[in-house]
Amino acid sequence: MIEFFINGNPVQAEDNQTVMQAAKANGYFIPYFCWHPQLSVPGNCRICMVEVEADGGGWLDIACNMPVTRGMRVLTDSEKVRARRKETLQFITLNHPVDCGICDKAGECTLQDYHFEYNGSPSISRDAKVHATKHFPLSGRITLDNERCIMCTRCVRFTREISKTNSLGVIDRGDHSLIRPVGDDSFEHDAYSDNVVDLCPVGALLSRQFLHKARVWYLLPTPSVCPGCERGCSVNIWHRKAEWKLHSLDTRQNARIDRVTPLENPAVNGPWICNKGRDLAQIFERARAEQAMQKGSPVELAAAIASARALIAAAKRPVALVSSWASNEELTAYDAALGKRFASHVKADWQAAPGEVVEDEVLIRADKNPNGAAARALFPALPADARSAFPSDCDLVLVWGEGFSFAQLPPKAKIIYLNAWLQPENGHADVFLPISVQTERSGHYTNFKGVVSAFEACFAKKPNVADAEALFAAIAPAQGERG
Ligand code: SF4
Ligand code: SF4
Ligand code: FES
Repeated sequence: MIEFFINGNPVQAEDNQTVMQAAKANGYFIPYFCWHPQLSVPGNCRICMVEVEADGGGWLDIACNMPVTRGMRVLTDSEKVRARRKETLQFITLNHPVDCGICDKAGECTLQDYHFEYNGSPSISRDAKVHATKHFPLSGRITLDNERCIMCTRCVRFTREISKTNSLGVIDRGDHSLIRPVGDDSFEHDAYSDNVVDLCPVGALLSRQFLHKARVWYLLPTPSVCPGCERGCSVNIWHRKAEWKLHSLDTRQNARIDRVTPLENPAVNGPWICNKGRDLAQIFERARAEQAMQKGSPVELAAAIASARALIAAAKRPVALVSSWASNEELTAYDAALGKRFASHVKADWQAAPGEVVEDEVLIRADKNPNGAAARALFPALPADARSAFPSDCDLVLVWGEGFSFAQLPPKAKIIYLNAWLQPENGHADVFLPISVQTERSGHYTNFKGVVSAFEACFAKKPNVADAEALFAAIAPAQGERG
């Protein structure tokens, strides 16, 4: 450890730490645009300037690229530092359009925040701003506003160092510099491309999905877990705050997912997620099953529960296919209520879709289900030949979750089906029970490395939809009920 001084206070730094890293670790704030803890250090934005005190006068230098030395004395907020930051911001905003009123980044833009904190003055330039492309289609997912870009190069370094597609670069020089994709279309196919939207310190890189959809101060992030693969990345699901709920016009906006962003978790995903994680609305906002049924005819949920219980009580050789999208709590509830009654096998609810990246060395895993590892710790996996899981005298199958073709079920067995989505199989079950989805309940998943992550409810569950965790006790027959 090395002792040095920040604003007169002794602090400890690791060997080889920069002033920025040591300051951050010790709770001192130094502003930054181009620096990012997971990327290389270009030192190009100059906003992280600090003053180094020394005998005979000090000097100003950038904290992100200055190694700590023993006994060094650093001032992070002196008069000289604030004056230099103000000059730097005046330089950065010379050509920046300051069109915050129509910018999606407004409310979470570091340029806005630093301007408010360190500058606050109108532009000092008498010359017209240099104009550049306002809506450059960087990919099908991302649009680039070159006028807002401050050339920090975070996006370029991300594609070189993290996603490794090398798909973005800088063309031209000086105030004509532009971020552009390389010519081979690789940014279009970068499975992690949307991380540059979060990385961009200003509103230059924007998600087309989210473009002008909501102001961020109307939205609330709920911590969750991406179910897109067994990595189980921590995410924030953003949705409308209760106090900003719409009472007219399109009230569906009150219960929709506006965007998904990474929730930094060093044990699972660091600060990144893949694009599939951004697209969770496409999974969770599919048409929902909200009606209990018996042989395709609508019935009250309570009646369907009673029928399911009677079928389980009467069964001689029941088999269950357990969902790998079930939470740890649901698996425990199933095991406690029905684990001994059924011969249980874990099925994969989801497989890789055509064109989807199956697996890579960054985050994406081949198993496209969030909790298969926890389910398989309790019950065996369904064999590749699914039919071999059903004994010849199997008379009841409980299917939990989507993704299993009923054509593989024993033709004479009764079927109890638990599913959240509106799908053709629902009407073919003897008893169909609609269940809640992850965004309507809280729980935990255990990822392939054994890391347990929590998710919380974003939206209220509909009253005619059951929670699987409570449902299993309700459909479990008491001892005397068994046939
Ligand atoms: S687009 Fe954003 S992240 Fe990329 S260089 Fe410009 S300001 Fe930085
Ligand atoms: S890597 Fe897997 S868990 Fe993480 S965001 Fe992508 S699909 Fe979701
Ligand atoms: S953060 Fe240090 S130069 Fe940009």
